[in-house]
Amino acid sequence: MADDALSLAGIDAFYGDSHVLQGVSLSLAEGHVLGLLGRNGAGKTTCMNVAVGLLPPRAGRVSLFGEKVSGRPPEAIAMRGLALVPQGRRIFRSLSVRENLTVAARKPVAGARHPWTLDAVFAAFPRLAERQRQTAGYLSGGEQQMLAIGRALMSNPRVLLMDEPSEGLAPQIVAEVMSTIRRLKEQGLSILLVEQNVKLVFDLADDIVILNSGRVVVSNTAGELRAGRIDLHQHLGVF
Ligand SMILES: Nc1ncnc2c1ncn2[C@@H]1O[C@H](COP(=O)(O)OP(=O)(O)OP(=O)(O)O)[C@@H](O)[C@H]1O
Ligand SMILES: [Mg+2]
Repeated sequence: MADDALSLAGIDAFYGDSHVLQGVSLSLAEGHVLGLLGRNGAGKTTCMNVAVGLLPPRAGRVSLFGEKVSGRPPEAIAMRGLALVPQGRRIFRSLSVRENLTVAARKPVAGARHPWTLDAVFAAFPRLAERQRQTAGYLSGGEQQMLAIGRALMSNPRVLLMDEPSEGLAPQIVAEVMSTIRRLKEQGLSILLVEQNVKLVFDLADDIVILNSGRVVVSNTAGELRAGRIDLHQHLGVF
């Protein structure tokens, strides 16, 4: 069997004494979208912080295409092809759109199928091209989200982590962001998508993991979950 694009195996992670992730295991298959769901505070962002190396786990292992990366610094992990679109976007507000993109540029790692350049990002997001000299802090919320995605793509990732890309966006902009994610998937990118918006996740994801208080409570294909054999309300408090 081919190695997963990204896997977390038996992860225990702490903030100080607070044991936030307890034995979390999840696998993102190459070319798939894995939806990661859970209530506020369930540990979704923490999973991302562990994957990118910002929060080293106390136990367990993070692997990228079969290679152990946990214990390495964030920069070394990024160089192996992992990029994060962080919750809340975190763009450089005082830099221009163009500068935000160029500072994030990195040559594609071996095996990357779709090299991202400034031109490629502007072609994917024409609105960023129009506003390339504008100070990023003055972009609308939707434009800032596109810039955050564009920045991550400029690093030419093989695996993209997206933390609540629809947060705070109007429905029409959410639809645009989602069609972007669909396009990236079609190009072969492996994507871990954290969302509060359950419908979005079910529209896009191949596989779904639900976290509850730092533990995995559901791990299944989206198809199986759609078939309704699991009580999502119990785990998410929605529907
Ligand atoms: N830097 C930190 N220091 C201490 N505790 C933290 C820190 N970041 C998060 N936590 C705690 O860890 C738990 C998990 O937080 P996390 O941000 O991973 O949740 P989440 O599932 O992403 O939630 P949300 O949907 O609200 O973004 C929460 O109880 C949170 O209060
Ligand atoms: Mg979060």
